[in-house]
Amino acid sequence: MSPRTFPESFVWGAATAAYQIEGAATEGGRGPSIWDTFSRTPGRTFEGHTGDVAADHYHRWREDVALMVELGLDSYRLSISWPRVQPGGTGELNAEGVAFYRELLDALIAEGINPVVTLYHWDLPQELEDAGGWTNRDTAYAFADYARAMARALGDRVEVWTTLNEPWCTAYLGYASGVHAPGRSDPAAALTAAHHLNLAHGLAGAAIRAELGEETNVSITLNLHVTRPADPESSADLEAAHRVNLVGNHVFLGPLLDGSYPVELRELTARITDWSFVLPGDLGLIRQRVDILGVNYYSTNYVRHRRAGETGGGSGGHGAGAASPWVALDDVEFLDPAGPLTAMGWNIEPEGLYELLTALDNAYDGLPLMVTENGAAFEDEVGPDGEVDDPSRVDYLRAHLGAVARAMEDGADVRGYFVWSLLDNFEWAYGYAKRFGIIRVDYDTQQRTPKSSARWYAELVRTGQLPD
Ligand code: NOJ
Repeated sequence: MSPRTFPESFVWGAATAAYQIEGAATEGGRGPSIWDTFSRTPGRTFEGHTGDVAADHYHRWREDVALMVELGLDSYRLSISWPRVQPGGTGELNAEGVAFYRELLDALIAEGINPVVTLYHWDLPQELEDAGGWTNRDTAYAFADYARAMARALGDRVEVWTTLNEPWCTAYLGYASGVHAPGRSDPAAALTAAHHLNLAHGLAGAAIRAELGEETNVSITLNLHVTRPADPESSADLEAAHRVNLVGNHVFLGPLLDGSYPVELRELTARITDWSFVLPGDLGLIRQRVDILGVNYYSTNYVRHRRAGETGGGSGGHGAGAASPWVALDDVEFLDPAGPLTAMGWNIEPEGLYELLTALDNAYDGLPLMVTENGAAFEDEVGPDGEVDDPSRVDYLRAHLGAVARAMEDGADVRGYFVWSLLDNFEWAYGYAKRFGIIRVDYDTQQRTPKSSARWYAELVRTGQLPD
């Protein structure tokens, strides 16, 4: 393969998530989720933005499928809103919610667009949070029941089931730094949540396969951190980066793919928890066959060892003033990224994606990988003609796809790429202030306008050739 030509079988897609695009928060029998509660709590999101309307995809999904057809997508990665299909998180399904996804999936399939379905993209039913959320082990079992119910209701329509999206964010942003729902700041709760998320993945994978057959494709999507020492010659900085890998990456990769939590991770976090939430048998339940590992990649981190007595330093892009999501890493300083930066303040480093994909390939011996998210927010400008020319986004995508091509050339089994995102949408705590879409959404009129990046992407999808 020449580094610039992708194979015929390569899957070209775009991704979204339910709470970020659907809106219709109280329609169709949907129950409340933790993101409804969180976003309606003053001070939690940019200017109090909520997902109440979002991109109104719940009502406009036909138009959105037509846009995907225009782009020529092979696949669409969407998430199911748990509270839309099972309002309280347990018990009876909401037939209207299930019908919504059934119709959407049918429309995609009719257009030859294969659905990749994520079961959990952060919108936990509020009732489950009221009972402790992911710190409560029962949530993992409730999730498995929900997964089984979705497999039963939608199974023949779904090519790949993804259990969780970015459990790092759920555990650490939700329960340690509190910048995401449910907004808690308790390091022990974050580690407990991380384990219960791992357990939820394992139980759900088994439930889906019990329902649909052993061969069913089960995946999980992780946001693994590519972390560099500020000074590569400093053993203290190297050790700091290693610890970030433990807390950020191996807390998931360990149990999911190796069958255990690293001893070093347990030691590092011993002041916070004794890990008694790991019950006998859990590790066996968690380590299910992962058919595809989903990789979400945006940026890299730079860290240095903070010497005793030192304070201050960068926020590492996690929001000034917020508690750190990095539990047990008080002596690790996340440097403010040097740039170039996206509108999120994240540094642009495509090489990190190459390194991540090749490192995963080496560590897990040919494990099939899929880039389930990659993309960038920029300050898009609407021209007088209503068009959006976004060359920075095109540059970002081109450079990152170049990194994917190189990783494949060097042996990584990367099956596909999903741009984040199909549409501008609700960017969590940043509300509608940050736009990741290759299609612009005018939130006053809900008009969709493909940006120049969408046209660029469509051409790439058509030819499989990455232009210079
Ligand atoms: C990852 C998350 O999965 C997605 O929901 C979010 O919008 C993007 N990153 C951009 O921050």
